[in-house]
Amino acid sequence: MEERFSELVQLAREAMEAAHAPYSRFHVGAAILTESGEVVTGCNVENASYGLTICAERTAMCRAVVQRASRPVAIAIATRTPTATPPCGACRQFLYEFNPDMIVLAVGTQGATLRTTLRELLPGAFDTEQLDSNRP
Ligand code: THU
Repeated sequence: MEERFSELVQLAREAMEAAHAPYSRFHVGAAILTESGEVVTGCNVENASYGLTICAERTAMCRAVVQRASRPVAIAIATRTPTATPPCGACRQFLYEFNPDMIVLAVGTQGATLRTTLRELLPGAFDTEQLDSNRP
């Protein structure tokens, strides 16, 4: 899997170019690597009604679901900021659903890549265990 990481980062950077971010001008690209080796990309999509904005990570994950892609094993996130940008809280929760052990790689334009996992980014996550143990 590791041997695909530089390609994954490159694909996240390419996806970032498609960002629809006229309001924040904060362009984000994401690329998900699946168990079967497929890569699915996404970018942030903003709206004049600001709160409807969808992050790059969730766009990519939704595409992966529609394409019936296999389990996501890693996600690369690219921004034009000098330092790496980690995924927002909503994206952490959203991605956790599909694989808590997913590797998260975040890259900016310079400096170190952030490398972690969803489990590290979202301790005590809400998941199906809570649903199952609290059913009426
Ligand atoms: N954004 C993402 O796409 N992913 C994140 O994890 C953080 C934020 C987008 C949403 C919005 O379009 C812009 O970045 C500024 O918040």
